[in-house]
Amino acid sequence: MIDIALPKGRLGDDVYRMFKNMGINAVDIEAKTRKLFFEDKQNGVRFYLIKPSDVAVYVERGAVDIGVVGKDSLVESGADVYELLDLGIGKCNMCVCSPNAFVDKQNSVLKVATKYPYIAREYYGEREIDIIKLNGSIELAPLIGLSHVIVDIVETGSTLRENNLKVDTIIMELSARVIASKSRYNFNKDRIDQLLRELI
Ligand code: PRP
Repeated sequence: MIDIALPKGRLGDDVYRMFKNMGINAVDIEAKTRKLFFEDKQNGVRFYLIKPSDVAVYVERGAVDIGVVGKDSLVESGADVYELLDLGIGKCNMCVCSPNAFVDKQNSVLKVATKYPYIAREYYGEREIDIIKLNGSIELAPLIGLSHVIVDIVETGSTLRENNLKVDTIIMELSARVIASKSRYNFNKDRIDQLLRELI
């Protein structure tokens, strides 16, 4: 069996559909129940539905062979894994954003609200910043004075527009990646490589 971690949610649904198109059929995975693991015995593939930000942990620890993860979660996790493939879906940007009227004069400690403290810290380098770690609705933070700026994902830009925010800097381009456990990939390399060749 090849064990595959899929991120729960739209990206995971899209990636499962890619597997389905190559003839893999994990019974009931699309039934939207509370079940978290599914298998296609015939093709020797098992899927696990995992919170997106946890996929890299499962892969790094060798609990699964491979996983699908956004580049954002991958970089933030710092996981020691092989990055095998860019799936070219789930494309978006990691950005610094701020209220339309805000200008960063670089002369005070910048308050940065983010779900991605590691990425934010790396981006600002030596500069003194105050990182405020949040878990969602990040765009609200600078609007009500919790932070000056945010470091967050921008996809369509509508969340920014609807909240009178703008992009100041694009930090990195993001998309969905296939990652592999370093220990398990070496055992199952041929099988995994073949699976990924058929996937794209
Ligand atoms: C993400 C991200 C932005 C939004 C960007 O949030 O944190 O808020 O999507 O997408 P857009 O540019 O297409 O508007 P998510 O929907 O995951 O919700 P969250 O606020 O709970 O993080």
